[in-house]
Amino acid sequence: MSHNNTIRLEKAARLHGETTVPGDKSISHRAVMFGSLAEGTTEVTNFLQGADCLSTIDCFRRMGIEIENTPERILIHGRGLHGLHAPFSVLDAGNSGTTTRLLSGVLAAQPFETTLTGDTSIQKRPMRRIIEPLSMMGADITSINGNDCAPLHIAGSALHGIRYHSKIASAQVKSAILLAGLYADGATSVTEPALSRNHTEIMLNRFGARVTSEGTTASVEPEPALYGQKIVVPGDISSAAFFIAAALIVPGAELLIRNVGINPTRDGILRVARDMGGDITCLNVSRDGEPTADLLVRHSALHGVTIGGDIIPTLIDELPIINVMAACAEGTTVIRDAADLRAKESDRIGVMAQYLSAMGCDITPTQDGMIIAGGSPLHGAVIDPHMDHRIAMTFAIAALVADGTTEITDGGIVAVSYPNFYEELARLTR
Ligand code: S3P
Repeated sequence: MSHNNTIRLEKAARLHGETTVPGDKSISHRAVMFGSLAEGTTEVTNFLQGADCLSTIDCFRRMGIEIENTPERILIHGRGLHGLHAPFSVLDAGNSGTTTRLLSGVLAAQPFETTLTGDTSIQKRPMRRIIEPLSMMGADITSINGNDCAPLHIAGSALHGIRYHSKIASAQVKSAILLAGLYADGATSVTEPALSRNHTEIMLNRFGARVTSEGTTASVEPEPALYGQKIVVPGDISSAAFFIAAALIVPGAELLIRNVGINPTRDGILRVARDMGGDITCLNVSRDGEPTADLLVRHSALHGVTIGGDIIPTLIDELPIINVMAACAEGTTVIRDAADLRAKESDRIGVMAQYLSAMGCDITPTQDGMIIAGGSPLHGAVIDPHMDHRIAMTFAIAALVADGTTEITDGGIVAVSYPNFYEELARLTR
């Protein structure tokens, strides 16, 4: 993907109105994957047309799945659990960790060999976390460069059910194992130290699999018959998070964000924002399947908080933007137990510390988080988002309260999860 455009942003005089955010990235990926492995047609509406989810579509098309993609909906003509074909080429996950890790679980069980790779960011991200449990199941999966990163070579094998205790709370790891478990010779379970997002468990059951959850353990029975479904993807709370934060920090702001997914394994941003003194009201709450609400957010005087423990997986992707809220809050915010931030699209601890301090914030990186002394005025800076869509959007929001101009080099990286982000931000601040 080429996206070398520099974006320039100024302080915002206002922020108001209504918006909807694009469909949830995690749920969109899963809809394509499970639809491909189901029999019959799966219809997905409000699918995220972001580069990451398009990478997932591309990988399944290369394995023989017909996928019709129109602006209104996508139709996936699934071929059942055993219907994938060997791809004619390398599979390219682009910038997408979810594609790489979840797909590895599926590929480990196919009767063919594949090579799975991605962009230079993906080629630096740790894959040991899936290589280890999948190998325990009998998978033949190797890091071609021997560095535990992609490109991965995967030769499909007969898999065994395992009971895996993961050291990290990761929905990508959990989901890779559960997907491989669909093909195993017995039940498979994954226990995590804290509950990560449970979209795989919810959606796989919807397609007809037998997945049970107890505490932080999810278990799956092998060889279910999966059938095509109609999936309506809720708005992505991880994208809404940028506008939630913007409305909290821009003086006088009031924003209504419609149809946001508020699954309790994803809603940590709401809990933390309220703890910080943020005025957020959930309207029109729907609990049918994945829960959703309209969020009414008003400018608020924020104060520092301590964030750590079991809440971390529920807001892991929101920690960069929570840093900006903390920079605008009175007092100190401490974030801990979030070492995995260093293994995201960029090292989000290092990158946040570098650029928030360049903007005038008092931030100290730690091994597993950061300490932010809020309240110092921010000023513009030049930000290199390090191929990380959420870093680009985080600093676009910081720019709204910074004196002078903020420049985001490679601003187009936002296309990974939110293609019209800057246009929407411009409209709401007009
Ligand atoms: C995701 C899980 C999280 C998250 C990522 C999407 C998913 O990653 O950061 O953006 O769709 O399962 P980890 O599982 O590595 O924590």
